Amino acid sequence: MSINPSRIASVEDARKFAARSVPRALFDYVDGGADDEITMTENITAFRRIGLIPRMGVRITEPNLSIELFGRTLTLPVILAPCGLVNVMHPDGPKGVAQAAASRGVASVLSAVAGISPEAMANAVDTSSTPMWFQLYSPKGRSDWEGLVDRVATSGYTALVVTLDTPVLGNRERDGRNGILVGSQVGIRSAATLALQVAGRPTWAARMATATLAARRSPRPSGPTVGLVAAGGSPFTWKDIREIRDRWTGPLLVKGVLSVADARSAIDSGCNGVIVSNHGGRQLDGAPATMSVLPEIAEAVGSATTVLVDGGVRRGSDVVKALAAGANAVLIGRPYLYGLEAAGAAGVARILDIFRRDIERTLVLLGCPTVANLDRQWIDLKN
Ligand SMILES: Cc1cc2nc3c(=O)[nH]c(=O)nc-3n(C[C@H](O)[C@H](O)[C@H](O)COP(=O)(O)O)c2cc1C
Repeated sequence: MSINPSRIASVEDARKFAARSVPRALFDYVDGGADDEITMTENITAFRRIGLIPRMGVRITEPNLSIELFGRTLTLPVILAPCGLVNVMHPDGPKGVAQAAASRGVASVLSAVAGISPEAMANAVDTSSTPMWFQLYSPKGRSDWEGLVDRVATSGYTALVVTLDTPVLGNRERDGRNGILVGSQVGIRSAATLALQVAGRPTWAARMATATLAARRSPRPSGPTVGLVAAGGSPFTWKDIREIRDRWTGPLLVKGVLSVADARSAIDSGCNGVIVSNHGGRQLDGAPATMSVLPEIAEAVGSATTVLVDGGVRRGSDVVKALAAGANAVLIGRPYLYGLEAAGAAGVARILDIFRRDIERTLVLLGCPTVANLDRQWIDLKN
């Protein structure tokens, strides 16, 4: 099934179209979380619990959505989060995602396990107009990351993100049931399940087959990416972060911070920013919803450190709430992956357009002329 992107009116629409477009295993890989999916669900609920407090009698025609991050102006306070296996979700793959982001002036973060080398991606996207960041995993430690960090620097990525919350992969039971449990053998039963799911999505299967044949005919991209799938995890310590800091000269952020103590450790290790994240509820189930810890972390670290947040951002009003609670910008994961699965790169662009339109409308309704003005007076945290 092929979806016309104009039919997508919300992230939830994209989610429904994605479910009809790709084999069940791929939809569940994106849609699912760890264990009982409590943290995943709480991320969304935490946004819903926060109220918005509008001011009346102000006329705003064109709210300003642009922000400054690490010396660059971004036209939207939304960044595409690093995500793995993007190459199997749609033939447009990671390149299509980054090109869609660049077309909308939006920064994106390439995951080390997205399925494309940092060089191949840098060749496909104009990083001079829109910043691209790289997210590091390192199953084998320094022998893995040293060379990769150098390649990322040479390829023009402007910031490095180190994900801390994946010492092992979370228990994603939907993936296990669908036969794509990382580290396990695919047996006859799970292979048959997968085959049936693929057979049920002939348009997706035909497009992927065509793209795979074309890729086989073109030269292989240079250099390997990290084999997280084979290793099953990427443990980093603060000592590793300090060593990475010594090697990487650009902005350095850690992803997976959920406490003031860890935010302080990040700053002590030389990081320029923290990403308040629980990996979209895909790692430790029971970890706090990101919006429940963001305000105290943002308050504790002060303005010298960039604070980003992700997990459960589904509406423009969620972006506004996160900024008002102290974030400099948000990252989105599933929203753009649903767009990709439903309608390829055009679906990703559509999701970004929806966020832009919704943030603009929310600011007008709030009576707030620019995202830079957002602070705690605009929200009711109810806690
Ligand atoms: C399918 C999928 C793959 C992901 N892969 C990675 C990854 O490779 N590296 C990483 O740091 N985070 C990864 N994440 C987590 C995202 O970067 C982000 O933290 C999360 O998706 C935010 O929550 P949201 O999906 O509710 O927006 C992944 C998330 C999803 C949904």
